[in-house]
Amino acid sequence: MTELNTAPVITIDGPGGSGKGTVSRLLARQLGWHFLDSGALYRLVALAAIHHSIALGDEFNIKTLAAHLDVEFESDEVDFEARIWLEGEDVTETIRSEECGQGASVVAALPSVRQALLARQRAFQEPPGLVADGRDMGTVVFPAANLKIYLTASREERARRRHKQLNDKGMSVNLQRILGELAERDARDSARSVSPLKSAPDAVVVDTTTAGIDEVVKRVLVEWQARS
Ligand code: DC
Repeated sequence: MTELNTAPVITIDGPGGSGKGTVSRLLARQLGWHFLDSGALYRLVALAAIHHSIALGDEFNIKTLAAHLDVEFESDEVDFEARIWLEGEDVTETIRSEECGQGASVVAALPSVRQALLARQRAFQEPPGLVADGRDMGTVVFPAANLKIYLTASREERARRRHKQLNDKGMSVNLQRILGELAERDARDSARSVSPLKSAPDAVVVDTTTAGIDEVVKRVLVEWQARS
């Protein structure tokens, strides 16, 4: 008989730019737990497809890629994803490009690709606990999570954050273009038939438009303490 995995899970879902990446990482650090960046897996699948010249709509071949993805996450004391390796190549910065983000959103709409990544994501649930960041962490991947959080923010604020993030990385980008791409990605992520971006019915919804990161982390910790 297999033993039931009882390591606690906190899921943080929401659209791009809602702050879930930063909040999830800080939370995992403070709790001393593991961290799953599920978006990175979809970004890696998109990048692998580009490398192997596979069309992003070719579901059979993309699913095969996803099932056999040769990826390694290297952590250090500061960063959970200090380096990310795809087929032996350092792709830490490459997967954060807008091209990989858009590609990720396209491959993420393919049902068999999502299925192929399920077990890989669930394997992150290890003691002492897991903070899982994504779009369907609370609805599909960890439906029995101990605490589900759904972060939102206005699209304008999310675009502004993304613009700053890319500028800080030395990438020159236009704010209006980011706003357009965000709208496109939101529509695709929310409208897809499998695991669409939506809040789980039992999730705590937190609007981060005007809230600082520390305030949001504190709010989640209060919710967690109330349950544990
Ligand atoms: O969070 P992110 O920007 O790195 O995610 C990239 C894309 O991957 C996003 O547009 C939607 C998709 N995604 C998903 O469908 N399900 C997840 N759990 C995480 C990401």
